[in-house]
Amino acid sequence: MPEPSTYIVTGGAGFVGSNCCAALSRARPDAQVICIDDFRVGSFRNLIEAYERHALGPVSCEVVAQDWTYLLTLIGHQSVGIVHMAAITDTTVDDQAQMLDDNAGPAWDGLMEAVLEASHTLVYASSAATYGTPPQAATHEAFPLSAAGKPDNIYGFSKWVMENSHRRVQQQDASASIVGLRFFNVFGPGESNKGAMASMAYKLAQQMLAGTAPRLFTPGDQARDQVYVDDVVDCVLAGLGLGDTKNPTPGVYNLGSGRPTTFNQLTDAVRAGLGLKAGELPTEYFEMPASVREFYQDFTLADMTETKRGLGFVPAHDPVEAITRYASYLKQQSGARR
Ligand SMILES: NC(=O)c1ccc[n+]([C@@H]2O[C@H](COP(=O)([O-])OP(=O)(O)OC[C@H]3O[C@@H](n4cnc5c(N)ncnc54)[C@H](O)[C@@H]3O)[C@@H](O)[C@H]2O)c1
Repeated sequence: MPEPSTYIVTGGAGFVGSNCCAALSRARPDAQVICIDDFRVGSFRNLIEAYERHALGPVSCEVVAQDWTYLLTLIGHQSVGIVHMAAITDTTVDDQAQMLDDNAGPAWDGLMEAVLEASHTLVYASSAATYGTPPQAATHEAFPLSAAGKPDNIYGFSKWVMENSHRRVQQQDASASIVGLRFFNVFGPGESNKGAMASMAYKLAQQMLAGTAPRLFTPGDQARDQVYVDDVVDCVLAGLGLGDTKNPTPGVYNLGSGRPTTFNQLTDAVRAGLGLKAGELPTEYFEMPASVREFYQDFTLADMTETKRGLGFVPAHDPVEAITRYASYLKQQSGARR
């Protein structure tokens, strides 16, 4: 796959997108990197933080404050690498028409047509929410790709519809360079603008930094696949052909750490990262309300076999160690703000 000289990241001022912009500027210093974001959730601060963390100095990518569909006017006949992260990421939005139109509407189909016409390379974010509650959740097994398709909410459904369009395009042209990644629970620097949608690690660290004891549903052994943002970005780059495998196989893949982390483990990792003493801010447990129980994901775990086979990507970070390091980073950041 020839390496494009331009990369465009939609949602590039968001959590994952800003980290992608910085990683692309580092991996391809001679290429043009363009961030498109309408800043409904994203912030210039994410870009500054990401470039700083990648030791790149001030932000060097171009920034276009537009709806992501503006991308369609920028891409011509020269092959471009596209990272599509822009979406309604608030999983509690229940306007079904709006969610489907924004995340998987005609503009999405238009983007894939453009990719086919001009041999662009496209990597986009799908979600573990496409799984809903598969049988593997009850038996605590990893979710194989084939188990998805019965999402529990409209957000997951919109990502499933997005994938369906991709699958149709791939059937028309198996060589189309399109990679969809089902992100599991991503955590790491750059998520401070996400409010209630920030990761559990971020929210617990902020609570504990404010002196509030963590509160978990009894018994705290519910587990999720928590994946560090640097692994997510490396996998996006692998999907663009910038990893060890120069010709990744198009398709939809899981993107998790491949390890379950219980909420008790997560809380202990945050506690360790913040340097709390034994017995300080002990976890308070409470019963899960029946309304939450109905759609609660007790267990998620990415089966990463295909991701390794098709993209040559293997996650490098142990989630518990990465959460510990992340919590100390958040402590440092909060100290710097005071
Ligand atoms: N963070 C996670 O744990 C997670 C899990 C599964 C899937 N995802 C997916 O990964 C992608 C990135 O998520 P994130 O966590 O970085 O969220 P985020 O909300 O931080 O990033 C999304 C960015 O897109 C921008 N945006 C939204 N709609 C737009 C539009 N119409 N035009 C232009 N910009 C627009 C927002 O301003 C924001 O900066 C999303 O597609 C999300 O659905 C994330």
